[in-house]
Amino acid sequence: MSHQSELIAENIEAYLKEHESKDLLRFITCGSVDDGKSTLIGRLLHDSKMIYEDQLAAITQASKSSGTTGDKVDLALLVDGLQSEREQGITIDVAYRFFSTDKRKFIIADTPGHEQYTRNMATGASTASLAVILIDARYGVQTQTRRHSFIADLLGIQHLVIAVNKMDLVDYSQQRFDEIVAEYGEVAERLKARDIRYVPMSALEGDNVVNKSEHMGWYAGPALLELLETVEIAHDSNLSDLRLPVQYVNRPNLDFRGYCGTLEAGILKPGLRVRALPSGKTSEIASIVTYDGNLEAAYPGQAITVTLRDEIDISRGDWLVGEDEAVPMASAFEADIVWMHESPLEPGKLYDLKLATRELAGKVAAIDYQVDVNTLEQRHADQLDLNAIGRCRVELTAPVPIDDYRTSPGTGAFIVIDRLTNVTVGAGMIHRSDESELPYEYRTHDSKADVVWNRSSVTPAMRAQIKGHTGKCIWFTGYSGSGKSTLANALDVELNRRGYHTMLLDGDNIRHGLCKDLGMNDTDRAENIRRVGEIARLFAEAGIIVITAFISPFRKDREEVRALFDEGDFIEVHVDTPLDICEQRDPKGLYQKAREGKIQDFTGISSPYEVPTGAEATLKTTEASQAELIAGLLKKI
Ligand code: ADX
Repeated sequence: MSHQSELIAENIEAYLKEHESKDLLRFITCGSVDDGKSTLIGRLLHDSKMIYEDQLAAITQASKSSGTTGDKVDLALLVDGLQSEREQGITIDVAYRFFSTDKRKFIIADTPGHEQYTRNMATGASTASLAVILIDARYGVQTQTRRHSFIADLLGIQHLVIAVNKMDLVDYSQQRFDEIVAEYGEVAERLKARDIRYVPMSALEGDNVVNKSEHMGWYAGPALLELLETVEIAHDSNLSDLRLPVQYVNRPNLDFRGYCGTLEAGILKPGLRVRALPSGKTSEIASIVTYDGNLEAAYPGQAITVTLRDEIDISRGDWLVGEDEAVPMASAFEADIVWMHESPLEPGKLYDLKLATRELAGKVAAIDYQVDVNTLEQRHADQLDLNAIGRCRVELTAPVPIDDYRTSPGTGAFIVIDRLTNVTVGAGMIHRSDESELPYEYRTHDSKADVVWNRSSVTPAMRAQIKGHTGKCIWFTGYSGSGKSTLANALDVELNRRGYHTMLLDGDNIRHGLCKDLGMNDTDRAENIRRVGEIARLFAEAGIIVITAFISPFRKDREEVRALFDEGDFIEVHVDTPLDICEQRDPKGLYQKAREGKIQDFTGISSPYEVPTGAEATLKTTEASQAELIAGLLKKI
């Protein structure tokens, strides 16, 4: 090998020592041969001098006869051999390549970029801390760029490097680079990953891969390798929770009982109080035993054996967690599943699930939706085919401790195994949302009855997709006779004309049916508005634009309805017609009756109207025509 370190020849022991203590970055490269991925990997291996001399001689020779790079060595030939073999489907595994520099060791997971290799990419991404996403500077963000970004993000990769390659073919143009950065910004908005960097490069010419480019003085950032060497990954692992799933109980004699496993989260030290799950029994860590002696502390990723102060019953598959940590036990959860087998995932079919070190039977009770990996749209699915990704409701045959994949990947992931063939057919990431993240169908329990929330598999997003728009509520409020019903009706007509799906709820009409049991005192009015609010919310959930026309005189009642909706989905419209005008108009003769004392609690006469303070729109019917008012309102919506 053309060694990168003189130490190897001089002092191999010292070299190995130095090497051992270097940290390791696992990353995945996403892109296709056309994006220059092989050239990039070849360039990293070559410039970091991790290529055998005979290999280099061979590809130098091959470059002359079959290469596409003129006089230059075609570095893609280094990796393309494997690539073409894989893309013919001979092997479908992920190719792992190793290289190192003075600062770090690296393992590259190299997976083919096409959609039919989604499962391979998911496999490669599952152990990676960083993803290099290649973009051809000539073409910018492509469908596959979105797909690669989504999969990397789904698998919890926190660091993304957007490698804008082939800058030599766009004259190293800063403007082109900036365009692509802006374009990718729209993709980035939908990702959870927060550390996203952009590097303009030419893998072919060696610009900004290992060495900084002389052609792009305008780029002040690091070359790719420098970035790979310095990206901070120590803080990526979860150190705040403690998770040791027990792989094996080691009991060589009566005096020793050790629990072996890989520490998935937290820092473990002797003296720490721990709790075993599912039993809930507590004890204290007595020692951390390894082959090379006892440890003062263990960190995530380390394979260890611990002994406890007390004899408590712990078996394979159990977890040791911090004594005070609240880890929910559940026999059902939501998960994103990547399907990896030719025979599709069938809801209802029993599979074996391996969660951390525990294996148990379970099934997918329902597929909430499948994600189109190219457009990120959610759609309905009865099954998940090979390479499909879907949000599923998983049910187990027994309750187990549940972690969220994003906070603890080691304990929040699982694999799905076919019970007959014992083949791994899928991989899942548990999505344990906390209260605040739950969709509104899971509003806090405030019913008087003992009821649970039943969920529907068709999500609001899917309903909205069919309708072509999301649901909303446009809430008209104002005095009786102010013109609410007339305006609401006119708006309804206009929206229908434009192809929107709408529903009009009108005060007088509702009081003939749903609310015929209610009168006009304050309590009954509050109940009236509450019911109407709930109905409006249901319609909106179905993806319909609901228009309501109710006096709704009390601010508190209106605010409670508003709270049922997401920000922006409740539009309060104050039909602001002065009381004396309403009374003059008196279309139903009710004001007169109220003045005569024949009607009690009449709004404006013997019952108050609280003017809205935060209405989205105010319509002054005395100052503008109906057409003008509606036109203005349509703009707001
Ligand atoms: S709300 O106050 O509960 O929002 P809602 O809009 O449903 O009232 O009903 C108002 C309609 O009921 C009015 O348009 C009017 O025709 C009729 N009505 C009958 N009695 C009263 C009353 N005491 N005050 C106001 N409106 C009344």
